[in-house]
Amino acid sequence: MVRVAPAGGRGGARVIAAKLLRGNSDRKTRFHTERGARMPLREWFRLPFVLASRLRRGAEEPWFAPGTSGYLSSLTRPGWRVVECGAGSSTLWFARRAGSVLSLEHDVTWSRAVTARLEQEGLGNVDVRHVPLDEFVRVLRELPDATVDLAVVDSSEDAACDRVACVEAVARKVRPGGYLVLDDSDRPRYLAVERVLEHWPVRRFVGIKGRPLLAVETSVYTRPFDTAEQAPQTEGVGTST
Ligand SMILES: C[S@@+](CC[C@H](N)C(=O)[O-])C[C@H]1O[C@@H](n2cnc3c(N)ncnc32)[C@H](O)[C@@H]1O
Repeated sequence: MVRVAPAGGRGGARVIAAKLLRGNSDRKTRFHTERGARMPLREWFRLPFVLASRLRRGAEEPWFAPGTSGYLSSLTRPGWRVVECGAGSSTLWFARRAGSVLSLEHDVTWSRAVTARLEQEGLGNVDVRHVPLDEFVRVLRELPDATVDLAVVDSSEDAACDRVACVEAVARKVRPGGYLVLDDSDRPRYLAVERVLEHWPVRRFVGIKGRPLLAVETSVYTRPFDTAEQAPQTEGVGTST
């Protein structure tokens, strides 16, 4: 006779608690990134504020690891040209801080929704361009080299186009001293980016985004100056985690 364990009781509660803690099968717990980094202590203090802001309807915070937008806010200048793969609240956020934003979006319904929201907010400095995913790389390659102050790679993916391909295409479009943001950089399949941007100093931010309730990493890379070029004296970004 086969005995079936009862679903309820302490055993059931333990299974549910383990599932709640684990989050999904890609990580040790929901407080670890996919590459196994544990959420830093300071992020626990920030968590209630992050959750409150992310659950608010119409919130304009980019969907990056907490801490990233504070850093980007300190960098971004009103005349900057931002190029983004994957539109959303980040598009409005950059529209308010930069000179112009080109946002590539594969989902036509979503690109219309973001455009409508920009119009509602009176933000006329954004080109939300509906582009199929398999055209992202071509559109990025057509941009003039070294003309982008900040690039964001945060798009959906399919077999024809992943974020690594977008990083490869947009890297040379970023000016020396400019920035490239890769969201969810803890995904093991993005390890190839470390080779593509091998000499780019990087700052990494780890924390819970809110939706979904999982720890993630967002990386902000700085394009180094060529040795022949003169770097401005005002800024130096080092590697940190
Ligand atoms: C990770 S999201 C991009 C998020 C954006 N960069 C931001 O920080 O807000 C990737 C894709 O999800 C889709 N998406 C983003 N926000 C959405 C929403 N609120 N509802 C439906 N689709 C959304 C869009 O197709 C977008 O390109």
